[in-house]
Amino acid sequence: MSKILVTGGAGYIGSHAVVELAQAGYEPVIVDDFSNSKESVLAGLRAILGRDVPCHHVDCGDAEALRGVFRQEGNIAGVIHFAAFKAVGESVQKPLAYFHNNVGSLLTLLQVMPEFGVENLVFSSSCTVYGNPDALPVTEATPTKPATSPYGRTKQMCEDIVHDVSGASSNKLRTILLRYFNPIGAHASAKIGELPLGTPNNLVPFITQTAAGIREKLTIFGDDYATPDGTNVRDYIHVVDLAKAHVVAVQRLLDRKAPDTVETFNVGTGHGNTVLEVVQAFEQASGQQLNYSIGPRRPGDVPAIYADATKAETVLGFKTETSLLDSLASAWKWQQTLG
Ligand code: UD1
Repeated sequence: MSKILVTGGAGYIGSHAVVELAQAGYEPVIVDDFSNSKESVLAGLRAILGRDVPCHHVDCGDAEALRGVFRQEGNIAGVIHFAAFKAVGESVQKPLAYFHNNVGSLLTLLQVMPEFGVENLVFSSSCTVYGNPDALPVTEATPTKPATSPYGRTKQMCEDIVHDVSGASSNKLRTILLRYFNPIGAHASAKIGELPLGTPNNLVPFITQTAAGIREKLTIFGDDYATPDGTNVRDYIHVVDLAKAHVVAVQRLLDRKAPDTVETFNVGTGHGNTVLEVVQAFEQASGQQLNYSIGPRRPGDVPAIYADATKAETVLGFKTETSLLDSLASAWKWQQTLG
């Protein structure tokens, strides 16, 4: 059983990846500082897996503490690095915190991994690196554009860092960069899901909280874009599908099928949906009518982006399985467990 360190493993995507890794026969070990996650996630993982997942309460930017984890665990086959801040608006308010945390933790990890002979890395990147693309869908070869937020810039910087470090002859590092589109939904068991602290920034938790009566109404950020119904287009991928992409990426690294440097994959469904389509699909999936209105555009939003998912399918054999309706049904089921 190969041991995989999962930084940010108590977070939204990380926790779902822990489940898929464990169910695929890996031994996930969580490293999380719980700055944007809750300890209750561990109970959810226990309920799904029937056992405890080892968890180190450690900030990845703390080199000594991270060394302690590698030392104590021993024999780590690879790392999936999820740990990062991800709120676009907050990153504009607190850019330094984002550079420190997102870039700093990657630098620390890249420093510590070779000290323990660990050469395999899967890194959480984002479609935000494409900025506002000239053509759709975006392939991995689509040129990146200047980021529209410090958050986006940290993802671009981290990709650059990984390329430089993997390319240096003094380093042995094989990395798979996964560029996520918009993850939504929750595990079918409804034991784990998205746990936004405070008011959600992202669309689907805002929708489910509105339907649950926690928020009064959803504001749709603009309906005057050049899209089919005027609202933004995104590629919404079920979080369990996204989690499974990490399992195949790890397997590819451990099988030594990946090149000795960096490989990049879009992880999306390959389909775009407008915000209004998501609202309608939610109403259908949940049987709830959603209170919403149209508001002004949100600064920094790109009009439309969705993935060309061909490379992940042909190279990784990865294909999403869950429909938008089923993804939203799982998000609603999860919301209802939160009360
Ligand atoms: C963005 C980034 C993504 C990043 C994520 C982290 C891009 C293209 N995407 O996703 O890389 O990982 O933030 O949070 O930069 N919306 C509303 N009302 C709301 C909330 C959202 O209308 O209350 C709309 C937005 O305008 C957008 C869509 O819903 O069109 C999705 O928004 P959100 O869930 O915040 O994700 P992105 O902004 O696409």
